[in-house]
Amino acid sequence: MLKTKITELFQIEYPVIKGGMLWLSTAEMAAAVSEAGGLGVISAATYDTRDKFQAELRKAKALTSKPIGVNLPLFPAIKPLDIDEYIRVIADEGITIVETAGRNPEPHMESLKKHGIMVMHKTTAVRYALKAENVGCDAVIIDGFECGGHPGEEDVTSLVLIPLAVRALKIPVVAAGGFGSGSGLAAALALGAEAIIMGTRFMLSREAPMHEDIKQHLIRQKETDTVLILRSLKNSIRVIRNEVAEEILRLESEGAGIDEIIRLAQGIRGRELMESGDISAGILACGQVIGLLNDIPTVEEIVLGTVQEAAAILKRLQPQSGPLSMP
Ligand SMILES: Cc1cc2nc3c(=O)[nH]c(=O)nc-3n(C[C@H](O)[C@H](O)[C@H](O)COP(=O)(O)O)c2cc1C
Repeated sequence: MLKTKITELFQIEYPVIKGGMLWLSTAEMAAAVSEAGGLGVISAATYDTRDKFQAELRKAKALTSKPIGVNLPLFPAIKPLDIDEYIRVIADEGITIVETAGRNPEPHMESLKKHGIMVMHKTTAVRYALKAENVGCDAVIIDGFECGGHPGEEDVTSLVLIPLAVRALKIPVVAAGGFGSGSGLAAALALGAEAIIMGTRFMLSREAPMHEDIKQHLIRQKETDTVLILRSLKNSIRVIRNEVAEEILRLESEGAGIDEIIRLAQGIRGRELMESGDISAGILACGQVIGLLNDIPTVEEIVLGTVQEAAAILKRLQPQSGPLSMP
């Protein structure tokens, strides 16, 4: 059911991937997605030392024998990871799928390819996707404007970006940004994508390591309840609207300096929010698709429900008999 170039490439059952999510993409989350037949991705940035990262990969491998991936962030960061060191750990643990994001992966391609690692690069514009193809990436993820996290600075939605990327590229395109159900998967396939990545949908799952009060808060949010912060730094992040996001927007509109803004936007405060259940404790990346979500299912229910709904839609859309009659 729903075989695509991505299910073939990564040897997974369904074209459903959980993108890297800081603090949330743990071994348990990634393994749950992979066990359900999708591809779970562990966020390298969640583990600040090579030993913690290696232990997490080993934990995931103990939980599933199915393929899992690793998200390697190439974004500018206060404490950037030693990417070469993390690639060595990935290779040592026999992980063969990496999701890169944030910057051109070219400086790391030689090392990744030397270890036989397949690379899907996440980007927000067709020209960067073409660059990723040219430097040897195996697939490209297109994150549309509606996505949770970093949507880029050009504000083009998935509905336009995905077919543009499919038209321009030879390697498979994975659709991200705004996908939260089977209708989204069917739509992505119709646009020419070979799989979807969901972030916000998996954040609102039973297994997501996040305080229940935050999940209950999120479930009440509408598609209009996210905002873009850090636009003034050309590093936009789509987050849920809360007091901290409003304060950052106020500082940005007043021309505040980077230090003052980053103090509020730093990732560690996002972790505090997730652990404490206090929605005002920091910022929380979240996509507009939150407006479509009204339940907190298990990861398995999300993967299988998405695939089954998409398959039913695609079947319903097939012509009953003979060629479609043309007007
Ligand atoms: C809470 C959260 C944290 C995220 N953290 C990261 C991250 O650390 N690295 C990354 O490349 N993408 C990150 N993303 C983006 C997702 O991997 C994915 O591309 C995006 O959520 C897709 O859009 P959607 O939210 O509409 O599903 C994050 C998204 C969310 C919602």
